[in-house]
Amino acid sequence: MLISTERIGNDLRAGAVSLTTRTVVRAMALSGDPVMRVLGRRAPADPYPEYERIRARGRVSRHPLGLHVTADHAISRAALRDPRLGVGPTRKRPGALDWLVASGEEEQLFHPIDESLLVLNPPEHTRLRRIAGPLFTPHAMRDLTPAVEKVVTRILDEAAGREQFDLVADFARRIPLEVMCDLFAVPDADRDTFVRWGGVLANTLDGIRTLGERRDVRRVLAEMTEFLGALVEERRREPGDDLVSRLAAAAPEGEPLDGRTLVVLAGMLLIAGFETVVNAIGGAAVALLEHPDQKALLLDDPDLAAEAVEEFLRYEPPVQVLLRVAREPVALGEVQLPAGGMLAIAIGGANRDPAVFDDPHRFDLSRPNKRDHLAFSAGIHYCLGAGLARLESELALRHLFARLPRLALAGKPQLRPIRNIRGPGIVPVLARGTR
Ligand code: HEM
Repeated sequence: MLISTERIGNDLRAGAVSLTTRTVVRAMALSGDPVMRVLGRRAPADPYPEYERIRARGRVSRHPLGLHVTADHAISRAALRDPRLGVGPTRKRPGALDWLVASGEEEQLFHPIDESLLVLNPPEHTRLRRIAGPLFTPHAMRDLTPAVEKVVTRILDEAAGREQFDLVADFARRIPLEVMCDLFAVPDADRDTFVRWGGVLANTLDGIRTLGERRDVRRVLAEMTEFLGALVEERRREPGDDLVSRLAAAAPEGEPLDGRTLVVLAGMLLIAGFETVVNAIGGAAVALLEHPDQKALLLDDPDLAAEAVEEFLRYEPPVQVLLRVAREPVALGEVQLPAGGMLAIAIGGANRDPAVFDDPHRFDLSRPNKRDHLAFSAGIHYCLGAGLARLESELALRHLFARLPRLALAGKPQLRPIRNIRGPGIVPVLARGTR
């Protein structure tokens, strides 16, 4: 093999895909390789047949490029819970912002995800998780319910007044951003800026591809770092009841957190809690519109909104593939993963594993074990914001269909062209279509 598998592994993990890797991945994807089709730059519109083909190769299989892959539910769950499988060989996600390091600007500009919980192994992960965890307890989520409900109904009031609107731009996309602005107590005047940052950074979670994206990210990171830094300082001086004030007041080892850690924590919440929720709300609403029998169940019983969210997260998880690296040799099923070996865990496939879910390709609100999905991962990296995501998505669906029972698609929903975050991009709907 002319190209190092380690380099391809690092590239895929970082999203900073080199031309050589891109060419190899594209050639293999074009030749029908299901692993490269799923991990390649442009995910297929329907990845689920690819996961079937991956599973048909074995519970865990070795790809010719050296990485291992699984779409098996039991193996995926065990791997995510296995402390011998970490999130990366080094502390930092390599590559994604190498251009900043090269230009000597890494001290001023950094991508919060690159230093976040998502890329840390214990003990650093444990330390940061202890700080951020208490912000998202079930109790805290219960307290938040009226505020989230208010955001959802306000946004719906505006959208519902129109004959036709875009389910993503005019509804789903606005909810997590407004909720996050409320949680951070961002002044009204800065909210549009927050929306812009969220969009740019979420689009580059997959990696920075073009010079234009590089320029946009650089500008956003500079603005966001400055804004969050100032917000942190302000809340240190005049604490309120918001998330930033609570983070700024945290003193895990008797010392307050430094400014950079606080900006990383706040930035991570902003990014991780945005695009995924847009896709959960938008995608679940589309799934209901495309399955009128299931939509009818929700119209008859609005309490089924929570069930609809869980079944959607099983059926179409917004995050499709997670990557892990063996910190020591690990036996998985029949396969031995060497130390340093990379495992791609196709949770989109695991969630449709027929060994666990009957008739897995059916979207079915009454499915008894839908909560066994892996959409929020498992183990120590289990999504910190799962409770908030569930709250926002459930209230969004509940109010959307109660207010607009005849909501209908006005055109074919278009998928967003992002590799690993799956969801609709443009969804024209008629507010008062057919029931
Ligand atoms: C439906 C919406 C969401 C989905 C599908 C989702 C999915 C995920 C997944 C799969 C992971 C684990 C990644 C891994 O194991 O490598 C994760 C981690 C995380 N999520 Fe979410 N997420 C959602 C919403 C949110 C929200 C609303 C927030 C915060 C406000 C959030 C914050 C985080 C954080 C901080 C982590 C890192 C946890 C850790 O590594 O310890 N997420 N999420």
